[in-house]
Amino acid sequence: MKILVIDDEIELREHMSAQLAKKGHDVVEAGSGDEALKILGNTIVDAIITDILMPGLSGIELIKDILNRLKIDVPILVITGYYSNEMADDLINLGVMAVISKPYNMDDILKRISEIGSGEIKPSKKIIYKIEDSSFLKINLEEFTSNPISAYDVYIKFSDAKYLKILNAGEELSSERINKFREKNVDYLYVKEQDHREYVQNSSALLKPELFKSGDNQKTLAERSRQIKRLDELIMEEIYSDNFDQQVFNSSVEVCKKNTELLLANDSMLELMKQIESFSDEMYRHNVGVSVLATMLARKSGWESAITLLKVNIVGLYHDVGKKWINKKILSKRIIDFTDQEHEEFESHCQHSCSILSEIPAISENILVPILQHHEYYDGTGYPSALKFQDIHPIARLITVVNDYSNLTLKNSNYELTDHEKAMEFLNKRKEKYDPRMLKNFCELFR
Ligand SMILES: [Fe+2]
Ligand SMILES: [Fe+2]
Repeated sequence: MKILVIDDEIELREHMSAQLAKKGHDVVEAGSGDEALKILGNTIVDAIITDILMPGLSGIELIKDILNRLKIDVPILVITGYYSNEMADDLINLGVMAVISKPYNMDDILKRISEIGSGEIKPSKKIIYKIEDSSFLKINLEEFTSNPISAYDVYIKFSDAKYLKILNAGEELSSERINKFREKNVDYLYVKEQDHREYVQNSSALLKPELFKSGDNQKTLAERSRQIKRLDELIMEEIYSDNFDQQVFNSSVEVCKKNTELLLANDSMLELMKQIESFSDEMYRHNVGVSVLATMLARKSGWESAITLLKVNIVGLYHDVGKKWINKKILSKRIIDFTDQEHEEFESHCQHSCSILSEIPAISENILVPILQHHEYYDGTGYPSALKFQDIHPIARLITVVNDYSNLTLKNSNYELTDHEKAMEFLNKRKEKYDPRMLKNFCELFR
């Protein structure tokens, strides 16, 4: 079949043309409605696939011209990133054969085209395809340099509503294509949120691969699933608040669950989590709480990378594990009643957390930095190194805010338990201690 593909976005057009050509179609491309009309003036085509939002003559005006003014009887498929039921109905009434929303599935398009070719699809049988909106997580392009074969579908983002699949699961992203993206200043590619688990499992960018080696003994598996279930329940019971931005909360809990499952598939991480739980229920709840809140703040701050979110979860879940080396008497005392010596011992938990985690082969060094720095304050009044501003790792700057909030709002022997309003007041009173953007985003998480 001879097919005219009209889209102002060249990447998208080329991709679609290549896929159609692979199936033996003869493809003509147009970058605008005007260009399409010129082509239609001297070429007979069997089908048209067009975008709607284009500079100059819009897709709708073009369709009206083709069907009503030029009276060309040709099946038209519309692909749009700005799908609405109303728009789809209008287009179908106009005489369009099918409306497909972006990000589209190429198989659907090829199926429609083959139905048109075989005469199975007649103008009376109009079809609307709505692919459910899915959220995407971004992946740094550079991560494909070391890991070019993708275990998941990969997308490129054109605008908020437009993602185009550029790679199928199992295909390789060639270095030529990576270079081409670099030349176009494309820094990130995207995977669907539900593929985030596969992505993380296959990525060795920040975590050592041993992290995902799992043990095979049945008892461990049973304990593991019990552990995960318990964590999930705790996340829901302890952190749930009507005050939260529910959308961010729900998606963050999902991310945390997935990441926790991943982490606890590793025997050393599971063992460490068990140690935290048996050491103190308080510490266990605090760490889970920090992990969920930190994920919420990360997402609110626009951190969408799957690997970054996993890192945030690891730091949240294990940042205080070093407290198991601190005298229990100190841990059961209010901080305001500490002697200087007790202060010193208490504060050493950051280094202890690092030492414990550095023994785990799966944990790479760059996760230890935010763990060591999770009590550093933006104004240089924190510990252990009194670092200031940008010298503090971004994940540590994020954790400090949620760590202080959790200490006040989840039952904890070192601090007096308070409610949400008082905790927020406390944070805002000492705002110079926090990265201003982090504090602002954190405040915005609540209604
Ligand atoms: Fe801590
Ligand atoms: Fe903490």
